[in-house]
Amino acid sequence: MSLLLCACKSPKQPNLGEPLADLSRAERAQFEAGKKVFQRVFTPQDGLGPLFNANSCAQCHEDPVVGGVGDEIEIHATRFVAPNSCDPLFDQGGPVIQQNATPLLQAKGIMKEQIPPGATAQARRSTPPLFGFGLVDAIPEAAILSHERRHGAKGDGIAGHASRTIDGRVGRFGRKAAVAALLDFNAGAFPQEMGVTTPLSPVEETINGTPVPPDTDPAPDPEITVEDIEKVTAFTRFLAPPPGQILTNHTDQHLARRGRKLFVHLNCAVCHRPKMNTGPSTSKALHRKTVALYSDLMVHDMGSALADICLEQAHPSEFRTEMLMGLRFRGQFLHDGSAKTVQEAIERHDGEARNSRDRFKALKEKDKQALLKFLETI
Ligand code: HEC
Ligand code: HEC
Repeated sequence: MSLLLCACKSPKQPNLGEPLADLSRAERAQFEAGKKVFQRVFTPQDGLGPLFNANSCAQCHEDPVVGGVGDEIEIHATRFVAPNSCDPLFDQGGPVIQQNATPLLQAKGIMKEQIPPGATAQARRSTPPLFGFGLVDAIPEAAILSHERRHGAKGDGIAGHASRTIDGRVGRFGRKAAVAALLDFNAGAFPQEMGVTTPLSPVEETINGTPVPPDTDPAPDPEITVEDIEKVTAFTRFLAPPPGQILTNHTDQHLARRGRKLFVHLNCAVCHRPKMNTGPSTSKALHRKTVALYSDLMVHDMGSALADICLEQAHPSEFRTEMLMGLRFRGQFLHDGSAKTVQEAIERHDGEARNSRDRFKALKEKDKQALLKFLETI
């Protein structure tokens, strides 16, 4: 396994929040126009709600720059029936539970959506950063599928399978890898997060299955255009990955080098693949590039303590290997934000990652610090 050997930032690497290097002038303009839509604050008059979670993409994805992390925690709920049936409960309002209502809906006594009665579990979801996502979007399916492993194949307890969407594409976005393409995720975020209807979902989401009262929704549907979705997607597609952290102190450099070796030695890198390559693209900035995502984009069984909902082909205990690029910009860890430190997140790995976790816990304190120092650089 080869690792990115240098955590230094080359002079050409864009700063956090900037677009990819190598963009054409037209692509740069698309990035800027998309950033405006990403930051656009919706009001009830121009489409917000009646049910919603927040009033702009950037209200959640905001730290330390637009497109980054957020402290918002969402509630999702679905119905799992063993062994393999997963119902996203669209007839009861869908898997994303909207926690806010506009004043017109509140006037009818409805303050938020409820957990659907058919749900077998609910989940908490912290808001992840979107840096480098265009590169992740441009990784060919075959490259992702090459990481599929059968149980017991290598004797390390690690398996992992792709999560496929209903139309057979390989999922990669969302904590359960339920969504195949960046455009699809973004298109769904407008109705699900902001109650903004689009030409792709032109009808308001129901309140747990009951249509919203027409007099609570003043804006005509669809409330945005396909071009708006494309613009937001250009922003997320061209948003550069976070630059590696340069360590200036000699002791730290030494520690991080040791930590990088331990990351491989402890099999962290089997799931958190240090890098993948994009395929051919019409955009030079995305064409055959390397992205240091630190994920195999597989879903893995992480044990019963972390388990929550199913989604598409991911079972309650299965999660996509979280990308670690930009880890140092996060303030809370694991899918629900329940781990307050990186170390706690590692110590709560279980299931397929149990061996890896046990070996981390058995490390000498100095080696633990080395691994954590390495993780601060990516
Ligand atoms: C209320 C807060 C909130 C708002 C508003 C919001 N998001 Fe998100 N976003 C989240 C959360 C929480 C997740 C994690 C969902 C999951 O893992 O299932 C997420 C995930 C994502 C992902 C996938 C991340 C990954 O790790 O694969 C993308 C892409 C994304 N959001 C784009 C957008 C866009 C574009 C908008 C505006 C149209 C938007 N979001 C609005 C909270 C929000
Ligand atoms: C079997 C695959 C697997 C192995 C092995 C593994 N991880 Fe993970 N890791 C995951 C998955 C899946 C998640 C997401 C879990 C969640 O959100 O609940 C994750 C999450 C994390 C997170 C939290 C990221 C965040 O922002 O929430 C960190 C940090 C991390 N892993 C580091 C490590 C380290 C260090 C090792 C080696 C000691 C390791 N992992 C081994 C699959 C793995």
